[in-house]
Amino acid sequence: MALAHDGVTPNDLDPLWLPFTPNDSFKRRPRMIARAKGMHYYTPEGREILDATAGLWCCNAGHGRDPIVKAVQDQVAELDFAPVFQYAHPKAFETASRIAALAPSDLDHVFFANSGSEAVDSALKIALAYHRYNGDGTRTRFIGRERGYHGVGFGGISVGGMVNNRKFFGPLLAGTDHLPHTYNRDEQAFTKGEPEWGAHLADELENIVALHDASTIAAVIVEPMAGSTGVLPPPKGYLKRLREICDRHGILLIFDEVICAFGRLGASFAAERYGVIPDMICFAKGITSGVIPMGGVICRNHVHDVINGEAEDHEIRLFHGYTYSAHPMACAAALATLNLYRDEGLFENSKRLEPVFADACHSVRDKCSSVQDIRTLGLAAAFDVEPIEGKPGKRGYDAVEYAFHDVGIMLRVSGDTICLTPPLIATEDHIAEMVEKTAKVIAHIS
Ligand SMILES: Cc1ncc(COP(=O)(O)O)c(C=O)c1O
Repeated sequence: MALAHDGVTPNDLDPLWLPFTPNDSFKRRPRMIARAKGMHYYTPEGREILDATAGLWCCNAGHGRDPIVKAVQDQVAELDFAPVFQYAHPKAFETASRIAALAPSDLDHVFFANSGSEAVDSALKIALAYHRYNGDGTRTRFIGRERGYHGVGFGGISVGGMVNNRKFFGPLLAGTDHLPHTYNRDEQAFTKGEPEWGAHLADELENIVALHDASTIAAVIVEPMAGSTGVLPPPKGYLKRLREICDRHGILLIFDEVICAFGRLGASFAAERYGVIPDMICFAKGITSGVIPMGGVICRNHVHDVINGEAEDHEIRLFHGYTYSAHPMACAAALATLNLYRDEGLFENSKRLEPVFADACHSVRDKCSSVQDIRTLGLAAAFDVEPIEGKPGKRGYDAVEYAFHDVGIMLRVSGDTICLTPPLIATEDHIAEMVEKTAKVIAHIS
């Protein structure tokens, strides 16, 4: 459909096919964003929209941050592109070093990709290569988890556990299995932080191992906190148990921290918050605060060394990589972002605000009777709104529309679950405002 052409809004919305969006209804009433600064987006008409989602869980340092803008501008003038197949550039090494220094334990080696989906595919391939170089080439199975989201590559949707992301796309990657998800409303409803109930669900991995035999399993991949299916915090002790079972059976453990990393849970990584060290961490989003696409995998020494050790001078050991791995502009953005996180204490701010945020979000329970559960962890929250019978997702979609057009807030929904994941620069006032606006939206759609 056409919009009046005023130099800012386009006059033909038809050619663009938007991902994960009902295109027709969007184009009838677009939610168009023209500008961003700090905690806010602005429409082409100049209307202010409070960003309660850090874009798409990625703009952790807020929007339009001068040091990141300047770093990217300088970088494009100095070195626009350099390949990292057989060549490299200094900021690629510097960025890897900074990420490795931030990661706990001996998570010391960084393989770069350009997105969370690519990070996940890279980690799965690294796991296979590791076992093969280790003389364990029969270990080819991957174990994911129900309600997990690991991006949209064939690897990611195979280990992922979101039905709509899988059911259209055939048999997927062969030889995957899934742990049960960790959510149980009867046991966990309205918990702040990690629920007490559910650590025993990690023991299901023992049953999966018994079924397939450990000698066929390469890796287990989980999000420490499942984000995209509506903020499912790990039950207390669950991740530790998964680690123990993986160790017992020689299975690699991969944490997909595309959402959790870089301060969302009040620490550099969820691995640090929980004191559980996986063999690999997938990251993306917050590494550049969403400014330039970047993702990657952080590997522990043994993973890296088995694959890269004892190579002939001419020998490539891992046949994998992306043209834009460690793109100079992504590295410049990442370095400036990591400086901001450090200099402004943004992970600490996230940690400090966690109880304030949790109390504010849970106060919605008394105001809105249609809310079936509220979950909070770090600076992430989810509100389960009762679905309309026969129309799952309708209330969620209405929430996004009403919030944007009438209330001036950007929300993220998963079905009928409304999620808040603000930039880490948020203040107490921002939190109060976003929770008040969210309650207004929930009251309207209920
Ligand atoms: C845990 C997790 N993994 C992977 C991805 C995929 O990231 P991308 O959309 O950058 O491919 C996401 C995106 O939200 C995610 O939340």
